[in-house]
Amino acid sequence: MSSTTSPSWVGLVDDVIAEGVVGKQWRAAFLAVPREVFIPEVIWREAGDDLVSLRRAEDPEEWLRRVYGSGYVVTQVDDGSPAGGEGRGRVATSSASRVDIVALMLDAGKVEPGMRVLEIGTGTGYTAALLAHRLGPENVTTIEIDPELAAHARAALATAGYGTVRVITADGARGHAAGRPFDRVLSTVAAPQVPNAWVTQVRPGGLVLTPWSSPYQPAGLLSLTVAADGTATGGLVNTTVSFMQLRDQRIRRVTVAEVVRDTDIPDISDTDLHASHLCNDGHARFAIGFQVPGCQWEYVPATGDDGRWCVWFLDPVSRSWARFAYQPGVRRWPIHQFGPRRLWDEATAAYQWWTNAGRPPVTQWRFTVTPAGQQVELVNPIRQEQGTRAGELA
Ligand SMILES: C[S@@+](CC[C@H](N)C(=O)[O-])C[C@H]1O[C@@H](n2cnc3c(N)ncnc32)[C@H](O)[C@@H]1O
Repeated sequence: MSSTTSPSWVGLVDDVIAEGVVGKQWRAAFLAVPREVFIPEVIWREAGDDLVSLRRAEDPEEWLRRVYGSGYVVTQVDDGSPAGGEGRGRVATSSASRVDIVALMLDAGKVEPGMRVLEIGTGTGYTAALLAHRLGPENVTTIEIDPELAAHARAALATAGYGTVRVITADGARGHAAGRPFDRVLSTVAAPQVPNAWVTQVRPGGLVLTPWSSPYQPAGLLSLTVAADGTATGGLVNTTVSFMQLRDQRIRRVTVAEVVRDTDIPDISDTDLHASHLCNDGHARFAIGFQVPGCQWEYVPATGDDGRWCVWFLDPVSRSWARFAYQPGVRRWPIHQFGPRRLWDEATAAYQWWTNAGRPPVTQWRFTVTPAGQQVELVNPIRQEQGTRAGELA
């Protein structure tokens, strides 16, 4: 029995369909495309803060279990040069996404037979193969920036019978002008700033679908519809999908230790605003991230049994930081702030603005992409006196 028809894989696919993530018209593709052909011999698994290699030859059962499991499979680290030496890496730079996420993107992209699709971020070639199965390989073009990954995907697509998919080794941010017009640009790599090239290569009425992220809101799926005038408008359709970013647009996640020094002397104040308000709700996070550019946050869970935990707010560029320190049983919590920016004050002001504006959901923020760049604005704010916030997202 091939692994795509094994009961566990069929069950996984059927669960994704039953949950309404994707329509059953994609079932045949998920059951036909042999995922193990696309996953390289060496994959990577988490080990503390690092990623360590897992070779198929060394543990074929575990390798196969991961390939046909519900999680994502890291297929490259540190752009192909493992930072920790042989077999040990730091940052995942290519992966085969979780099956439910692939399904979600195919569904959100409203991809139908008869369409021509440009995929950005070929990776293993697996998503391109699913597209090829449903649309015909001649209707699928995919771009990968990394030559080794592109070569692997090309070979895998040929082995699986989709050899006429066009795999281009290039910077996907430029799209593929020679192939336009496409019905869809489907990016499987996040674009904090959506390249206008993608918009210009999609026919009017077509879609650009891409994961999106900002330092404060690292997850989201953006759907833009291209208008007859060549601009694209739309918004976030999901705030939980998290992808690596386009190489040129990488958001460098910093650790607390990289920003905070023992010699820093912070200002100390206190607050009755619990940090969960600033970090737990995707709609609030989006609004805060929009107004507090460049700020990241990190939750540090309690280590002892005293129930204390904290959240750090970090801006590596200005080396500013703030720390909310939770302890149970009190109503006000200490805030430490250091650096030229007052990140806690900025974040709480943004949160207050968002609540005063009627707590608008992410769907109320409109993205527009034109040759001048990406603009984001809040449409129909409930309290008109708050005005419309518009501008560039960091
Ligand atoms: C999450 S993986 C894509 C997974 C892929 N769709 C699959 O089915 O395996 C993202 C890929 O985007 C690629 N990438 C990053 N920046 C890129 C760029 N500017 N142009 C094209 N590909 C890029 C990475 O090398 C990586 O392989």
